Amino acid sequence: MKEHVCPWWLSYAFDNPLRKLFHSPPRLLAPYVRPGMTCVDLGCGRGYFSLGLARLTGPAGRVFAVDRQEKMLGLLARRAARAGLEGTIQTSLAGRQGLGLERLNGQVDFILCFWMLHEVRARAKFLAQAAALLKPGGRLMLTEPRVHVSLLNFEQSLEVASRTGLEVEARPQVAMSRCALLRQL
Ligand SMILES: C[S@@+](CC[C@H](N)C(=O)[O-])C[C@H]1O[C@@H](n2cnc3c(N)ncnc32)[C@H](O)[C@@H]1O
Repeated sequence: MKEHVCPWWLSYAFDNPLRKLFHSPPRLLAPYVRPGMTCVDLGCGRGYFSLGLARLTGPAGRVFAVDRQEKMLGLLARRAARAGLEGTIQTSLAGRQGLGLERLNGQVDFILCFWMLHEVRARAKFLAQAAALLKPGGRLMLTEPRVHVSLLNFEQSLEVASRTGLEVEARPQVAMSRCALLRQL
């Protein structure tokens, strides 16, 4: 079966200068991300949130920006360099077999999955790999677009996540989205 990922050119439809009005990275992420933390932006696209995460972790932190599409990672790398954040953000190409971040297992403080899980076919495997990255007490913010993901579908993802040890801690409000903050037990 063919994979359906958001094409790079379509990302400009939502990742544009107006986005900060409704998806402000400091407002959404500052409650969970501190200087020096290790973060992962899964399905980072052109890196709107990777940059936001890097500003919150500061140079003492690390942000691993992961995507299935090399083109997205290239656009992100240019954006990070323009913002002077290339020292904090490391891009990583996910493969069909997985995220390719096993070396970070048990070391990650915070994972962001923003508007991307609905594009992943092997949801259970993907969430298990994400959960394995987290330290005990580490958090994963799962945010899905209301326009593509029904409440039932979202709740099913939370059920799948709970089988990997990720429990719902909070339900932050995010514009146009369904969102849950999950915590590794
Ligand atoms: C709709 S875009 C969202 C991008 C970004 N999170 C944002 O909010 O700006 C979804 C992204 O997820 C990526 N993606 C889809 N499946 C993936 C997978 N299995 N592993 C990593 N990235 C994936 C796509 O390539 C695409 O760049």
